Amino acid sequence: MNDRQIQRRRMIAAMVAAGFSPWNRLLAEDKLLPVTPSDAEGPFYPVDIPSDSDNNLLRVVGMRDTSPGQLAYVHGTVVDQQGTPIDNARVEIWQCDHGGVYHHPGDDGKPDLRFQGFGAMVTSRAGAYHFRTLRPVPYTGRTPHIHYRVSAPGFNRLTTQLYVTEEAERNARDSLYKRHSPAERVQLTSSFRTVDDAGLMAEFNIVLG
Ligand SMILES: [Fe+2]
Repeated sequence: MNDRQIQRRRMIAAMVAAGFSPWNRLLAEDKLLPVTPSDAEGPFYPVDIPSDSDNNLLRVVGMRDTSPGQLAYVHGTVVDQQGTPIDNARVEIWQCDHGGVYHHPGDDGKPDLRFQGFGAMVTSRAGAYHFRTLRPVPYTGRTPHIHYRVSAPGFNRLTTQLYVTEEAERNARDSLYKRHSPAERVQLTSSFRTVDDAGLMAEFNIVLG
């Protein structure tokens, strides 16, 4: 085996360990992974990136109280179509607060300032990212979702949305969700599972092309 093959074997093993099992067969057969489908950006990407925009959306600088809502850890790995982890990818998320209001002047509601609303981080050498945030809630006309924007040098920027497996009924009625093919829905939908008393956990792995 040459270096490239060894690296690939290691990568496949790591991906399986990280929960990439649906992609394992494709990688083993030397097939490219499908790029994560894009989805509408929507009107609420921040006008200005807030100064507090770290990956803990439940801790806001200057706020003593934490936001109400259901704690969720959202994490995953960003890879290319060969399955190679992409380090230094910038992952941004934004979502409404527990009351369904975005931190955006275009949203009529009053946002809960105890919730950060937007967060960003750069992936590690292993391509990993994670956010401490709220389990998304529905708001008028939309099923729960978290907006994502992912960029890395040499790749197309991805704007998409993560949906919640446990919201099958609302998802089925959501006009944006319905636009996706069944295969795309699988890629964009993750289970928000209770891991322990700490909260919910959801894994969303992302392929850039
Ligand atoms: Fe939205």
